[in-house]
Amino acid sequence: MYSRRQLLLACLAVFSPVWASSPFDETTLCAPDGSITAKFVAFGATLTELLVKNKDGGLTDVIPGYDDNSRLLTDQGHPVMNAMVGRYANRIKNGTFSIPITKYPQPDGPNVYHTPLNDFSGEATIHGGIYGWDRRNWTIVDVSATSVTYQHIDPADEGFPGTVTVTATHTVSNGGNLHTSVHATATQKTPIMVTQHIYWNLDGFQYGSDDIMAHQLQIPGGRVIEVDGNRVPTGNLIPVPGTPFDFRAAHAIRVAFDEDPSFLGYDYAWIYDDTSVGKTALWSGLSGIRLDIETDQPAVQVYTASLNMPRKQVHGGPTKQYGARSTVAIEQEGWLDAINTPEWGVDQIYGPERKFAWNTKYTFSVVK
Ligand SMILES: *[C@@H]1O[C@H](CO)[C@@H](O)[C@H](O)[C@H]1NC(C)=O
Ligand SMILES: *[C@@H]1O[C@H](CO)[C@@H](O)[C@H](O)[C@H]1NC(C)=O
Repeated sequence: MYSRRQLLLACLAVFSPVWASSPFDETTLCAPDGSITAKFVAFGATLTELLVKNKDGGLTDVIPGYDDNSRLLTDQGHPVMNAMVGRYANRIKNGTFSIPITKYPQPDGPNVYHTPLNDFSGEATIHGGIYGWDRRNWTIVDVSATSVTYQHIDPADEGFPGTVTVTATHTVSNGGNLHTSVHATATQKTPIMVTQHIYWNLDGFQYGSDDIMAHQLQIPGGRVIEVDGNRVPTGNLIPVPGTPFDFRAAHAIRVAFDEDPSFLGYDYAWIYDDTSVGKTALWSGLSGIRLDIETDQPAVQVYTASLNMPRKQVHGGPTKQYGARSTVAIEQEGWLDAINTPEWGVDQIYGPERKFAWNTKYTFSVVK
């Protein structure tokens, strides 16, 4: 655990400004009021440490990760740890799509594109392919004490059409805020769907709990995207009432697991009811830390991951492991695989005439 004084000193010491030279060197951002400190690396424009105030007035690192950030590249488990994900997050059925989109693209048809089948099933693309944006060396194009902007140029990697130039700006501000903003332009028509793949444990493994089962979750979304055994959409939406997906009223994540011992966990996308702003809340009574997320995206993926890797030292590593349900990923995103689901009428094709944008704000507070 860090004291606030240690942290303020660290912030003053770090910011010269130093332009990180290795893609695994950290850039530290501190809000002037000391409410939040965030560290990032250029590899994947990835968040590596996030310190916020707990109920005791100390600071808790609320995200898992590695003590050695080069493991973002070499970890065979590839959990896409807290990185920016693109060019197309989540799954693409059969690693195939067409432009304009069609329900059943003919494999050798005109304007049909193929991306790597790198998901567990071998029948879908996951998170932009084998080397998606989360595994690319982004470049710092702007940095200050409170903000860093990374840029990545994706020259038709992984089978996608056209060159995409993307920037991700991470900014911290007083009152415990982290804002991430993504902008992308493309030289020809291409699907773009982005997420920020942050795993959370709001106790930071400091309060005698090793999992997120007692965390309270609230999602104001009445529908979940139904998926098949490959976790690609069937096209149907599941109304949440009476299902383990009903988080419209906040409750502990553990409820569905307790009610049904065979429940495997969450890896689903909720559609926000409010199309103007999506809001998810997560909090823990142990640390008292509450996270409120606001996004301009229509959906949120909630993934009760089973990580299997040594913890960071600050979380009791390396002897202790991040294990089953030790964290929950909450990913603001578009309708997944809408590029193979034309019946939804969701347009995820961008290009010279249409720029892409993604914005999410994370606000931390202490609940009594
Ligand atoms: C999946 O894509 C491959 C080409 O990558 C194609 O040969 C195959 O027919 C497709 N399968 C289905 C079910 O569309
Ligand atoms: C990114 O940088 C790392 C470390 O310098 C290097 O090992 C890796 O090959 C680079 N990746 C790409 C795609 O250039």
